[in-house]
Amino acid sequence: MLDVAFAKPALPKAGALVLLVAESEAPSGVWQQADEATGGAIGRALEVAKFKGGKGKSVSILAPGAGLSRVLVLGLGKSDAMTALAAEEAGGAAVAALGSEPAFTIVAGALTAALGAHIAMGATLRAYRFDRYRTKEKPEDKPKLTKVTVMLAEPAAAKTAYAPLKAVAEGVFISRDLVSEPANVLNPVEFAERIKKLSSLGLKISVFGVKEMTKLGFGCLLGVGMGSAVEPRMVVMEWHGASGGAAKGGRKAAPRKPVAFVGKGVTFDTGGISIKPAGGMEDMKWDMAGAGAVVGLMAALAGRKAKVDAVGLVGLVENMLSGVAQRPGDVVKSYSGQTVEVINTDAEGRLVLADVLWYCQEKYDPQFMIDLATLTGAIIVSLGHEYAGLFSNDDALAGKLTAAGVGTGEKLWRMPLGEAYDKQLKSEIADMKNIGGRPGGSITAAEFIKRFVNGKPWAHLDIAGMAWSSKDAPCVPKGATAYGVRLLDRLVADHYEA
Ligand code: BES
Ligand code: MN
Ligand code: ZN
Repeated sequence: MLDVAFAKPALPKAGALVLLVAESEAPSGVWQQADEATGGAIGRALEVAKFKGGKGKSVSILAPGAGLSRVLVLGLGKSDAMTALAAEEAGGAAVAALGSEPAFTIVAGALTAALGAHIAMGATLRAYRFDRYRTKEKPEDKPKLTKVTVMLAEPAAAKTAYAPLKAVAEGVFISRDLVSEPANVLNPVEFAERIKKLSSLGLKISVFGVKEMTKLGFGCLLGVGMGSAVEPRMVVMEWHGASGGAAKGGRKAAPRKPVAFVGKGVTFDTGGISIKPAGGMEDMKWDMAGAGAVVGLMAALAGRKAKVDAVGLVGLVENMLSGVAQRPGDVVKSYSGQTVEVINTDAEGRLVLADVLWYCQEKYDPQFMIDLATLTGAIIVSLGHEYAGLFSNDDALAGKLTAAGVGTGEKLWRMPLGEAYDKQLKSEIADMKNIGGRPGGSITAAEFIKRFVNGKPWAHLDIAGMAWSSKDAPCVPKGATAYGVRLLDRLVADHYEA
């Protein structure tokens, strides 16, 4: 992870310098000093480029003098519109432009400590790279950046504000690492092992194997795993940040209902006997991104010692074909007691979630359950790669989630639910089918899941279009995005901490 420092503004004697400039801001402070020290090189460059400080606009000046290797001037847009997200994007943009430098300094002279911390967060998030399997890359081809210094009026306060953000960034990296791993490495058993290591953060981890899940009666989840040589797992992570300590007066704090997060963790989705086409099937290594987000989120909450009681549950399964794989037409019995006719073995995520969600509400009676799943190709048809689909039986929860999406840039768009869609799941032999046909494919998938939440407040995030990115974004290099970690951390921070 990027090494971040905060300091008072002062003109550096060497290296690369980033000047953050709001619309129609006049040169002052380090900006003015740098301009004078370079004999006006910065001012001349900005004039030629007709730079006005517009958001996302930038000018890069090479070797301007005064020992500086580069000066990057980054526009912030209107200064009163400066948000935490805009600050993160500025930090990310600086890393994108200067990643080949070993270190650089960002001058954020006029910004608050909180915004300065978010600049550092954005820089950190953009500097992520998964290079575990690149053995032949030459050192000179690797990104050099190891250190960023953010200069602002209150460096001590910014450092304090950065500590929890750094914990969230760590959660994001845990999630990106898991999602990036190939499926021959990250199978359900290995996934569970990696989660267990997070007990060092203070998370209580329990792993359920085939024996335990058979005893409970997880027929839906176990049916999906039947064709794989590697056994499925369910992992439960508990974070006791609110009720863990004793309250004032020595009495134990009254236990509050936890908040609950559930993730689809299909470590590879071949489609099973209803096999997928070959083209692009390699993408299905990231069919565990919902589980990856839940793990990253729990690590973030524990890492920043969030004052909340939270549980995270992930269903880890590999959906394969073999002589012992589940067949189309099979009928399985879920942990809830409801039976399911498996029309299509490729609609496996909802089967995994069905048992884990029922277990979650029964065991924890949570304030709400939010599940994350790369559930349907249809949600990509509807929303592309801009919004995840949000389905909920609770308007207040949906509203809070949507707002957290705007705040973090992990955007959500609410989709409908309704009886007419639910009817599409009618089966002639069992309580329901696992697919509802082509029309409204993401909605009937959500209706299926809704049958396993027992009427509890619930939201389902279909993140199929958001888990992996084919192009760079300011704070998210292309690849695994860890979509959901920042979103749900913000939801908890804004509404559910003591
Ligand atoms: N994991 C897939 C959904 C998916 C597709 C995620 C593309 C990311 C990119 C899911 O298990 C699946 O196969 N869904 C089917 C459902 C269908 C059989 C009703 C789909 O979307 O085609
Ligand atoms: Mn599938
Ligand atoms: Zn899947």
